[in-house]
Amino acid sequence: MSEMYSASAAKGLAAYQHNKDALLLAIESSCDETAASVLRGDREVLSMSVYTQIPLHRKFGGVVPELASRSHVEKIGEVVNYALESAKVTIDDISAIAVTCGPGLVGALLVGVSYAKGLAFAKGLPLIGVNHLAGHIAANYLTYPDLKPPFMCLVASGGHSHIIKVEDYHKFTLLGRTRDDAAGEAFDKVARALGLPYPGGPELEKLAREGDPNKYPFHSALNQSIEESDFSFSGIKTAVVNLLHNAEQKGESLDPADIAASFQRAVCDALTMKSVHAAKAHGMDTLALAGGVSANKALRGALEAECRRQGVRFCCPDFRFCTDNAAMIACAGHYGLMAGQLSGLELNAVPNLALC
Ligand code: KG4
Ligand code: ZN
Repeated sequence: MSEMYSASAAKGLAAYQHNKDALLLAIESSCDETAASVLRGDREVLSMSVYTQIPLHRKFGGVVPELASRSHVEKIGEVVNYALESAKVTIDDISAIAVTCGPGLVGALLVGVSYAKGLAFAKGLPLIGVNHLAGHIAANYLTYPDLKPPFMCLVASGGHSHIIKVEDYHKFTLLGRTRDDAAGEAFDKVARALGLPYPGGPELEKLAREGDPNKYPFHSALNQSIEESDFSFSGIKTAVVNLLHNAEQKGESLDPADIAASFQRAVCDALTMKSVHAAKAHGMDTLALAGGVSANKALRGALEAECRRQGVRFCCPDFRFCTDNAAMIACAGHYGLMAGQLSGLELNAVPNLALC
């Protein structure tokens, strides 16, 4: 049975590679969004459907993994059907299937991986497991039709803060990473300390708009050195928490907007200085931004200004491709298939899957 599937998938891969208008269905379920998308060729997004679990997790102040998995199971069929319908196609028009296989929550990932494997097997279609971070990077290809590797990329999400040299569509070199909290994680934790609802990043950004970014100098020694590509965000987070506790003990009231703005500035400064420096130091003429934190306008603005100053092209995903979605997984999957990568039915969810 599985030999029959392998032969059909190999044949399907060859057909996919030879048809520049082939349709690919992608599925993403690594965290708290159930998403599906249909892509034509390399970069034409025919549909995107996303079911967000934010209201489900909000009352707990963060993602509850077991609830996330159950919600993915309940919604995945509907989300996939909606992506097909809104692309005005049926499953019989699809030539390949891509699915996020890591990193992420194991139970959540397993829902998408199992569903994708079932579909691929039933239809004899080629299947590719995609690294979620490769997906975030590929969001830039969907936004800039002319963008090609090599380029430098800053990936800032809830779980990662990486400076990555994108050598080719599927070849990456990790140059720097956070030594503790990821940028998005720090946003979420500080937002929580400020009493903002989950997910904290966008809420903190809103509050920061009314505050003074120079009110509190939240520094971190590691972040101060631009030659050092690693980041550290937990010290900044602790400084905010200590400031709040001290004020509370003394009965003082602080303006939370100033704290939010100063924290956001400290994080954005570190991400900006180090990534633009890395681009220049490695002779890259382009720096791309990726991951959920790429939706932050202060970060986009800081990177754009510094890139302009240093003569580097700056790319960042269209807002609809910033946070988790399946179009980015489809695009990364496409380039993997074009390079001959194929996953068998043994494909599994890998919660800590490394990109490189
Ligand atoms: O990429 P993503 O959607 O999921 C992961 O792969 O982790 O990123 C989610 C992270 C969360 O930490 C969220 O608070 C943060 O991205 N985020 C933001 C903004 N939008 C999302 N952080 C700061 N400002 C935003 N506007
Ligand atoms: Zn993500």
